[in-house]
Amino acid sequence: MFSLSIIFALLAGATQCISWPHGPFHTEGKNIIDATGLPFTYVGINWPGEGQTMIPEGLQYSSIADIVAKIKSLDFNSVRMGWATEMVDDILDNGGDVSIKDTMVKALGPELAPSIICQILDHNPNFTENTTRLEVWDAVAAELHKQKLHLVFNNHVSKAIWCCSPDDGNGWFGDTYFDVAKWKRSLAYMAKYTAKWPARTALSLRNELRQVNGPANDTYGWSLWYDEMIDAANIVNAAAPDALVFISGLNYGHELNPITAGEPLRPPEDKRVFNLSDFHYADKIGFELHSYDNSIANCTFFQYELYQRGFNALDVTPQTTSRNIAPVVLTEFGFAQNSSDYQGVYASCLKDFLTGDNRVLNASRIEGPIGHFEWNLGGSYYVREGIVDHDDWWALLNHDWSDWRNHTVLNAYQIPLIRETLL
Ligand SMILES: *[C@@H]1O[C@H](CO)[C@@H](O)[C@H](O)[C@H]1NC(C)=O
Ligand SMILES: *[C@@H]1O[C@H](CO)[C@@H](O)[C@H](O)[C@H]1NC(C)=O
Ligand SMILES: *[C@@H]1O[C@H](CO)[C@@H](O)[C@H](O)[C@H]1NC(C)=O
Ligand SMILES: *[C@@H]1O[C@H](CO)[C@@H](O)[C@H](O)[C@H]1NC(C)=O
Ligand SMILES: *[C@@H]1O[C@H](CO)[C@@H](O)[C@H](O)[C@H]1NC(C)=O
Ligand SMILES: *[C@@H]1O[C@H](CO)[C@@H](O)[C@H](O)[C@H]1NC(C)=O
Ligand SMILES: *[C@@H]1O[C@H](CO)[C@@H](O)[C@H](O)[C@H]1NC(C)=O
Ligand SMILES: *[C@@H]1O[C@H](CO)[C@@H](O)[C@H](O)[C@H]1NC(C)=O
Repeated sequence: MFSLSIIFALLAGATQCISWPHGPFHTEGKNIIDATGLPFTYVGINWPGEGQTMIPEGLQYSSIADIVAKIKSLDFNSVRMGWATEMVDDILDNGGDVSIKDTMVKALGPELAPSIICQILDHNPNFTENTTRLEVWDAVAAELHKQKLHLVFNNHVSKAIWCCSPDDGNGWFGDTYFDVAKWKRSLAYMAKYTAKWPARTALSLRNELRQVNGPANDTYGWSLWYDEMIDAANIVNAAAPDALVFISGLNYGHELNPITAGEPLRPPEDKRVFNLSDFHYADKIGFELHSYDNSIANCTFFQYELYQRGFNALDVTPQTTSRNIAPVVLTEFGFAQNSSDYQGVYASCLKDFLTGDNRVLNASRIEGPIGHFEWNLGGSYYVREGIVDHDDWWALLNHDWSDWRNHTVLNAYQIPLIRETLL
């Protein structure tokens, strides 16, 4: 039955000559389905672009084409890239898009910026100092298309700074920098703008909502979350009807518990239950979860947690209670690449969970591989938390983006994980 439907899907695909990226995607139950009718699993890596400069990291060390080629060489099929609402505020309120020169001067200061700008232009001769941020993003999106990598474009922050803490002002609706109206405006803007990027097959509404220090925290919880997610998803879907929309939960994207479980949002005051039929485009909605449970010691317990935090939406076995079934992608996890962390409980248990090699307890009812994006690709940041050229020893690439940081880890962990999760 299954193989027959695949054959029909292939025939349909062949007659319509559907070319990469085989979009638009939609969801059917737990699966993402491409335009040829086949299931698709995002197997990718995070490449940040939401830092203070608001352009993708690494361009002072490498050309866009070379970075994308490195990603492709591991057989990843996608990247998740973050952008900041502040970029759209600049375009709409503050005099228009900002040049490479001006964004670098603002982020790094007038002394350090000139040499970094020169390095960016040396490695990326298509650009000049006057190339704007969105033109840089256009070039990245074009290169992803050329090398056939899907883009999940993720609203990571409002103010463009390193994420995520309770006091960075970006954490919850109404937080110091988190103006809800501007956030929705930026989602609509980028959803529409990115329509010309064929590689962009999905948009994420917001990264790692969380409890915050300050008055905005008074409304923290699933009730406001649900109102805002429905509104934002409908805005994005209307502006980009072809794109999937990923929704993440609370507690730094670690929890979707009552949402996927179909339990009341905040009893007794709010007895509403998350229901995909509340969304205008129900077959475009997927969930994303993060896991930074790096100190976990018990794999069985960890898988229990992962399941009940939201991966239960992938469990299609018959249940006595009503549950929401939808795709769930692990869009962030990570660990140091300069150590034996890849052999620890957290990393190895996640690998078993994602590939399906060794799922336990209720998670054993989930079939097939689970999509994932490790944090992070490379190797250093223009500036992070006040430190220029900040190293990232959790990155797959080394500091100057010239080679993999640790071939031992890559060969033992990422390469088999990629191979075993690609459909
Ligand atoms: C950038 O723009 C400035 C101001 O319009 C101009 O003077 C300069 O020649 C431009 N630089 C390049 C490389 O096009
Ligand atoms: C740079 O420009 C050339 C020629 O217009 C084009 O083929 C290439 O794709 C561009 N590269 C990027 C990264 O934009
Ligand atoms: C934020 O609010 C939650 C309840 O919604 C509360 O449990 C938590 O302690 C608050 N956090 C801070 C930092 O005030
Ligand atoms: C690991 O977690 C499982 C599930 O919670 C539990 O049954 C088991 O006793 C734990 N093992 C150890 C060694 O603590
Ligand atoms: C695991 O499955 C059992 C049997 O269906 C169910 O009673 C239990 O609530 C599930 N546990 C979680 C955490 O969902
Ligand atoms: C969602 O709503 C539909 C139609 O009202 C209903 O059949 C379904 O059981 C609901 N799902 C959940 C998880 O409550
Ligand atoms: C790479 O990982 C291996 C295995 O954990 C470790 O022994 C080695 O020191 C690491 N190399 C670097 C350059 O970090
Ligand atoms: C990995 O690199 C970080 C940053 O340089 C360092 O603090 C840490 O000790 C290193 N870990 C190992 C095992 O060498």
